[in-house]
Amino acid sequence: MDNQVIIFDTTLRDGEQALASSLSVHEKLQIALAIEQLGVDVMEVGFPVSSPGDFESVQTIAKTVKNSRVCGLARAIEADIKACADSLSVAEQFRIHTFISTSDIHVTQKLKRDFSDVEKMAVSSIKYARQFTDDVEFSCEDAGRTPIDNLCRMVESAINAGATTVNIPDTVGYTLPSEFGDIITQLFNRVPNIDKAIISVHCHNDLGMAVANSMAAVEAGARQVECTINGIGERAGNCSLEEIAMILQTRQNKLQLNTDINHKEIAKTSKLVSELCNMPVQPNKAIVGSNAFSHSSGIHQDGMLKASNTYEIMTPESVGICKTNLNLTSRSGRHVIKHRMASLGYKESDFDLEKLYNDFLTLADKKGQVFDDDLEALVFNINQQSGD
Ligand code: KIV
Ligand code: ZN
Repeated sequence: MDNQVIIFDTTLRDGEQALASSLSVHEKLQIALAIEQLGVDVMEVGFPVSSPGDFESVQTIAKTVKNSRVCGLARAIEADIKACADSLSVAEQFRIHTFISTSDIHVTQKLKRDFSDVEKMAVSSIKYARQFTDDVEFSCEDAGRTPIDNLCRMVESAINAGATTVNIPDTVGYTLPSEFGDIITQLFNRVPNIDKAIISVHCHNDLGMAVANSMAAVEAGARQVECTINGIGERAGNCSLEEIAMILQTRQNKLQLNTDINHKEIAKTSKLVSELCNMPVQPNKAIVGSNAFSHSSGIHQDGMLKASNTYEIMTPESVGICKTNLNLTSRSGRHVIKHRMASLGYKESDFDLEKLYNDFLTLADKKGQVFDDDLEALVFNINQQSGD
């Protein structure tokens, strides 16, 4: 099995669906260019049939982006696929992503059809999409809740119809990692033509398991992960790109899997998406949260000053964050105060460490975090009192 994992970014489609106000064409293009710099393989940038604005932004991005394959979404309906092809055809190569629901709940209650009808619609829409491009992705919407026999049957038919990527979404974020990994294993064991397509996964985060489920699928053989910057997307969002990329990078020795992501672009891209989408990133968010490389306890800070791998499994620089942050709080020890004073340019003889540390603790108890300016003011006061 190939050890390259294709990164499919859907920030501008699934992610954008979740925004309170939509992005302008210019803002979408700015994000698309940042995602291209980040090194994603495929970017899904909209749902062209949905509005003239979406059509225009997909077309603008398809015209401009050269180093990532641009993709648009279409239901398994000819008009959707035609709009997708029309907006994307300005690019030399492009992907059409068509989908239909396969779970009993969706087939009977949403589509009000039976499974055979849905299978026929999937097959004819894939064949239709193949008239415009040889890169067609098909998704079995709500695959996570689809009976496995039906899922195997649909995947086999989709590949026979010409789908080059078959995507298995956990649309409602319901499965457990062990269950989702097992679905992928069963597909590899039971679908006879499975090696003719890339198996992709698209996991939602309703129970906070989107990244874990995507990883379970990758370990079971999936070779495309659909994800978004900062994990934005419908409801609780999608699998977060930065987390998947850094799991694959940090655990490369164990997993032996690669991506083409330029990890140093991660922080910058996260910030841009957060600002333009008006979606703040929670401080404790893995990889890109403001606390992701901050250490507060004295024991951790002391360890970090001795060797950074004591409490960091990756460096902030590796994701484009300039440095580790040691927060000065009442949990901080003398070691970090001494170190901070040295980095502010003070010699040991310039201040009395014991006195400074005592005053620092009194201040930290009052105000929580103590900043460099506060430390310098404390030293100034101590030295004034002692007449230095
Ligand atoms: O969550 C989902 O199932 C989707 C599909 C369109 C892939 O977004
Ligand atoms: Zn989705």
